[in-house]
Amino acid sequence: MTSRVERRPLQERPRGLKPAAQDAKKRQVPETIPNHDEPMTTVLGIETSCDETSAAIVTSTPAESEAPTESDDLRWGNCPCRVLSNVVASQVDLHAKYGGVVPEIASRAHIERLDSVIEEAMAVANRRPEDIDVIAVTNRPGLVGALLIGVTAAKSLSWAWSKPLVGVDHIRAHAYSPAIGAAKSPWPAVGLVVSGGHTSLFRIDDATSIELLGATTDDAAGEAFDKVATILGLPYPGGPQIEKIASKGDPKAVDFPRTMLSPDSLDFSFSGIKTAVLYHVHGNGRTSGGLEGRSRQNIADIAASFQRAVVDVLVRKTMLAVAKTGLNSVVLGGGVAANNVLRSALETCCIERKLAFRAADRAYCTDNAGMIAALGLRQYERGDRAALDLDAYANASVESTAPAEEDRS
Ligand code: KG4
Ligand code: ZN
Repeated sequence: MTSRVERRPLQERPRGLKPAAQDAKKRQVPETIPNHDEPMTTVLGIETSCDETSAAIVTSTPAESEAPTESDDLRWGNCPCRVLSNVVASQVDLHAKYGGVVPEIASRAHIERLDSVIEEAMAVANRRPEDIDVIAVTNRPGLVGALLIGVTAAKSLSWAWSKPLVGVDHIRAHAYSPAIGAAKSPWPAVGLVVSGGHTSLFRIDDATSIELLGATTDDAAGEAFDKVATILGLPYPGGPQIEKIASKGDPKAVDFPRTMLSPDSLDFSFSGIKTAVLYHVHGNGRTSGGLEGRSRQNIADIAASFQRAVVDVLVRKTMLAVAKTGLNSVVLGGGVAANNVLRSALETCCIERKLAFRAADRAYCTDNAGMIAALGLRQYERGDRAALDLDAYANASVESTAPAEEDRS
């Protein structure tokens, strides 16, 4: 199992939780138990919407008297939560040979891995079932077969452990993820969420209040990165590969189109640029052979030019959303938010305009349960509870005007 595990030392436990002495030694839990003014809430988050099997433990921030010193290696900040573990088992190896995610394979891999991923998240956080107060699970949007594995596991644990259940929208969690570890609250903000399935601009007033301003009309930005990588003969997943090779290329080498739709539109379209790369490489009407004889440098130039064009559009549209809303804070989340060129271009633009800017930490960009548990905590605090008939949905609640419990699509 390939797993990216974020291990953070646990430096205190809530009052009343007495780990076995042996356990405490193994995990280096200090002898002293802090004095809480208010109870903490501990959330187990589960994420299986696509090709990452993930589980995380997040707690609400304890009272100020417990605030860590600067040397503490903990994710605090004014975001009132702390990520104790965030275990991600990637399925990239399983899907790479098919050039994309195969839903059936994804579901099977989630079934095989989820138990051990949850166990590892609990072990890294040094939490036992009785320490968990809430179970939060992604129940939309995503591959329904994959989502159902996480939802079924979460419902089973909710029932077996008698813990409340919260259903979390994956896109809302990407939008919320920049708040994790932030030094101060980024809300209200314009939020740009760029992932493999979504490219959306939001007005985010706080954790659970979010309004869609614009979305892609065809391919998502991450999807365009992945497809262009295939055109350029790069392995799956394409986004990180494009970024890597583009770092050696000239972003001005090819003038790819920047599709803005209408001048004041906050919607996106990335299918045109994908086709432009295809024609540039293979010539109009041909789909193969165009890579032959091209140097590595030439491929790097095409990748850099493509990346620059996509980033230009994302930054311009985000600034348009800032102008339209009058907000002075911008946040960035989603898998493509891991891209350094995008992060620094958006940051530079925000600095020039004296806007606050916060990109999600890289650990919370690509799919992860940390962001699901963090938003699940906020939803729980606001009284959100799901019943044991919680279902999985392919579409995002925030991108639909239909009622929350519409038909599965
Ligand atoms: O959020 P995410 O993990 O999954 C979805 O919710 O879709 O996003 C995955 C997408 C993929 O398309 C991947 O190629 C892209 O994020 N991605 C990147 C980078 N890292 C991941 N795109 C550009 N540059 C990157 N460094
Ligand atoms: Zn995602």
